[in-house]
Amino acid sequence: MMTKRRVTLTVNGEHVEPLVEANALLVNVLREELQLTGTKYCCGTGQCGGCTVLVNGEPILSCLTLAVAVDGADILTIEGVAKPDGSLDPIQEAFLDHGAVQCGFCTPGMILMAKDLLAHDPSPSEERIREHLRGNLCRCTGYHRIVKAIGSCGQ
Ligand code: FES
Ligand code: FES
Repeated sequence: MMTKRRVTLTVNGEHVEPLVEANALLVNVLREELQLTGTKYCCGTGQCGGCTVLVNGEPILSCLTLAVAVDGADILTIEGVAKPDGSLDPIQEAFLDHGAVQCGFCTPGMILMAKDLLAHDPSPSEERIREHLRGNLCRCTGYHRIVKAIGSCGQ
């Protein structure tokens, strides 16, 4: 049996210290140890973006990241995107307003990518939005409504 190791993380502003195996993937630690199931495990091979979370402000694929590799990191998952009072983030509101959510499986990854984009480019062009989302697959919406939703958040 593999030796477990304690990692120290700040997840959605909360200090946590899960005990994890050396080969535990971050996506599984989030979903199974911390019960944050908003982060989706889809392809498991880095091809869909459904497992995207922000680590120290940068998007990463949590299905390709070992939990021990991000020891000490600050992590934002979809559960931490709404405001502390429970009201939705403007990006979440925009997704709802534009009908950009159908099955919702891709939505957490899309919203975290949108947050990352808008943090670096507050007024992105449609081309820039599409380029930024190129690693995030959606099987339902045809992307148009997602792109419109993110574009509507531009300043
Ligand atoms: S589940 Fe990680 S990229 Fe698909
Ligand atoms: S809304 Fe279903 S995969 Fe995107």
